[in-house]
Amino acid sequence: MIRTENLTRKFGKVVAVENLTLDVRKGEVFGFIGPNGAGKTTTVRMLCCLIAPTEGTAFIGDNEINRDPDSLNIRQMVGLLPESPGLYERLSPYRNLDFFAQLYGVPRNKREERIKDLLQMLNMWKKRDEPVGTFSKGMKQKIAIARALVHDPEILFLDEPTSGLDPRAAKTVRDFLSDLRREGRTIFLNTHNLAEAERLCDRVALVNTKLVAVGSPMELKRRYWKRTTQVQLKAISPSILSAVEALPFAKNVRTQDSKLLVDVGNPEEDNSMLAQTILAAGGKIQFISEMERTLEDVYLKLIGGGS
Ligand SMILES: Nc1ncnc2c1ncn2[C@@H]1O[C@H](COP(=O)(O)OP(=O)(O)OP(=O)(O)O)[C@@H](O)[C@H]1O
Ligand SMILES: [Mg+2]
Repeated sequence: MIRTENLTRKFGKVVAVENLTLDVRKGEVFGFIGPNGAGKTTTVRMLCCLIAPTEGTAFIGDNEINRDPDSLNIRQMVGLLPESPGLYERLSPYRNLDFFAQLYGVPRNKREERIKDLLQMLNMWKKRDEPVGTFSKGMKQKIAIARALVHDPEILFLDEPTSGLDPRAAKTVRDFLSDLRREGRTIFLNTHNLAEAERLCDRVALVNTKLVAVGSPMELKRRYWKRTTQVQLKAISPSILSAVEALPFAKNVRTQDSKLLVDVGNPEEDNSMLAQTILAAGGKIQFISEMERTLEDVYLKLIGGGS
């Protein structure tokens, strides 16, 4: 659905995006994560035909960016929530949305229905006639998301949709994105919120000017960490330790207070033997579970700043 080929953008001497080659599938929620200045916004702006690449290219469906008449098709196919919403503050949500719908050539009879649907879905219908300038940040963000969707685009680009929102407003936006995903829309999500990316995204790309890694959150976690089983014991004795160390699959056996941490190749197979061995050595198991890694762990490992 979205394909980039060596996409590159420089601003003078600054290389914002370098040789980015990516494939985003139809219906996928694709997370784009990376530090400040990593080129996320620049990438999205190129994909929406707002700025031209310096080198390389990209395709949205069969349309190539920055090539006429493809760019016109692309503008109809994509909706963009930019980094700052930029709404008309003196106009009501309804008028804001109606204005953009007209700009996109949505026929009058469709406009009303579409705007009503969107405002109702986002719980903003009651406020449809109040000036947007009187709204809180979260409310403005909802209107900006509705604006990105007013022409019913196949692909939605969201540049940090929940940044600066309180937990409840952020959850409303996230739930709304889940609904959109169920409709089969392709969503490209720039975010710094790694827990959010992990929850929402089918796959994520980690970028830092260049592409650092891409995969599902689970794949990335498995790629960069061995799977570790943690066993909470009442107490750890030397005989338990040596029995576990003697197991052929147990690697890097270590303790953390009365917790035993063991890297195992295949926990689904190995854990029962591990548990039996501990019990046979007189250990009293309180809990046994997999040590959870998060996307944040992957990020810190690959981008730096972590152990
Ligand atoms: N219009 C511009 N003119 C000059 N430099 C720019 C311009 N837009 C972006 N840059 C530079 O390109 C680099 C990438 O910026 P970009 O906004 O794409 O990063 P980002 O990943 O979206 O960061 P953030 O997480 O802070 O939003 C930065 O070094 C930035 O200063
Ligand atoms: Mg940005």
